[in-house]
Amino acid sequence: MDKARIAVLVSGGGTNLQALIDAQNKGIIQSGEIVLVISNNPDAYALQRAQKVGISTQIVTKKQCGSQDAFEEKIKQLIDTYAVDLIVLAGFMSILSENFTKDYPQRIINVHPSLIPSFCGKGFYGLRVHQEALAYGVKVTGATVHFVNEIPDGGKIIMQKAVYIEDGDTPEILQKRVMEQAEWEILPAAVELVSKQLCS
Ligand code: GAR
Repeated sequence: MDKARIAVLVSGGGTNLQALIDAQNKGIIQSGEIVLVISNNPDAYALQRAQKVGISTQIVTKKQCGSQDAFEEKIKQLIDTYAVDLIVLAGFMSILSENFTKDYPQRIINVHPSLIPSFCGKGFYGLRVHQEALAYGVKVTGATVHFVNEIPDGGKIIMQKAVYIEDGDTPEILQKRVMEQAEWEILPAAVELVSKQLCS
């Protein structure tokens, strides 16, 4: 294949999606192309970020589908329709079951806002991860990009970057620093790495 066709799954603000779009524009991502953005939240600002640059968007909610199975089937159909090679979870706040992940081995990647295996797994998402890191009192945290399998945050690690905690950090301040210093850098780099492997 010439370029890996990428679907990005989102739920919220979409700053990681924006980092991917910017990286694509700058040529940091050159072995892949974002062809689709899927949101499980109709109000996600990420949808507007995609629409602004002409990327197709789709909304799939569990409520509308009626069950986890139907929700995952709908996403699978879209992945098929858009001939997607690589699925990127970028702030996607829904856990995909084994029934989904088994169909895409080494083809789904996720960004998580801590150094796995710390502060990860079921229930650890978004701001909560940084609240727990601060409550524990760790001095270093960071972000991880990993392949997705049936274990939440349990797939093979692709890249990690450490970020120091500073005096006076709140969960919000820490979240922003981890995004700026780690997530927005390693997610595009990992997407390029995996896309390149898929193309070779
Ligand atoms: C990011 O910090 C991402 O790592 C985290 O949610 C935020 C989404 O922000 N994801 C998880 O916690 C997944 N377990 P964004 O919508 O601005 O990219």
